[in-house]
Amino acid sequence: MEISKVTIPENELKEKYTDEKLLEFGKTFTDRMFKIEFINGEWKKPRITKYSPLTLEPSAIALQYGQSIFEGQKAYRTKEGKLNLFRPEMNIQRFNKSAKRMAMPEVDPEIYMEGLKTLLDLEREWTPKNIGSALYIRPTMIGTQGRLGVVPSNEYLFYIILAPVGPYFPEGFKPIKIWVSERYIRAAPGGTGSAKTAGNYGASLMIGQKALKKGYNQVLWLDAIHKKYVEEVGAMNIFFVYNDILYTAPLESGTILPGLTRASVIQMANDFGYTVKEEALSMEEIVMGTKDGTLQECFGAGTAASIAPVGCLRYQGKEHIINDFKTGGITQKIYSSLIDIQYGIVDDPYGWIVSV
Ligand SMILES: Cc1ncc(COP(=O)(O)O)c(C=O)c1O
Repeated sequence: MEISKVTIPENELKEKYTDEKLLEFGKTFTDRMFKIEFINGEWKKPRITKYSPLTLEPSAIALQYGQSIFEGQKAYRTKEGKLNLFRPEMNIQRFNKSAKRMAMPEVDPEIYMEGLKTLLDLEREWTPKNIGSALYIRPTMIGTQGRLGVVPSNEYLFYIILAPVGPYFPEGFKPIKIWVSERYIRAAPGGTGSAKTAGNYGASLMIGQKALKKGYNQVLWLDAIHKKYVEEVGAMNIFFVYNDILYTAPLESGTILPGLTRASVIQMANDFGYTVKEEALSMEEIVMGTKDGTLQECFGAGTAASIAPVGCLRYQGKEHIINDFKTGGITQKIYSSLIDIQYGIVDDPYGWIVSV
């Protein structure tokens, strides 16, 4: 596959960040992007262009009806200067599942992967070096046809942009506070919860902002039917530890994003000898666990935040503190093991890493 590449004159290249510790999540973008259009039923010529604004019809279907999907991945820089992708084939698979759910064409996995590798190779210098920092990857597909009427677009744009990022939570690897949403829900059975589509996130903004204003980092979503069982957090899946057994919500309801960090945590925890149960936990059980101390640990798991210890859940007007607001041993062990594989500090025993 031939990917054409723009040559950007030296004086048009962006000024790079000077201190990667000051990088805020998702606010800086690199010089280039990967692009390919879907027109007349086929994917056209893939190319690397300058990172620049898109020209869209005001009536574009992505803008009017939300036909828009994306992925979230990271490239981690190793000591030797390689860029490590973590299980990228899972992102591609999930992207194409989201595409199917949103009546969009699938992207050829080879085009996605080759486009990503070519872009990363050109933008290598933008990758931060510190553990906890990375080059965040945002593959996106939008319906670009300009027309009103609720039908799928007949034209699409697939693109990949890159953002050098620091830690997702400014406080770094420290326990976070979570607001449990009692009134609003994220996804109902039969809806789009398991797809990474823009509307799921748009619908979460209002309550997310409310939680942030009150001093909470994320929102925990409960199931739509009973408003009782824990599902996931805004940008992470969530795990609870009782009696050295890890619990996380099952995926069968189709209301939860099947995180690849979640899948990796389950595998690593099993290999460490822990039992992992994919079972619905109710808020009642969790509150009880914080009171009688049987709830040992709680952590979020996702690409953006990696592993995030949870120190407090705010539910029914009260703050429920977990493990004295300290990071637990299992959370720490899983975090370190994951980071070690991602940054190439240890050999990857699973074959999860693809180096560029
Ligand atoms: C709603 C939601 N849940 C969970 C996750 C974690 O998924 P992953 O581990 O694949 O990043 C994400 C990540 O983007 C998310 O948006």
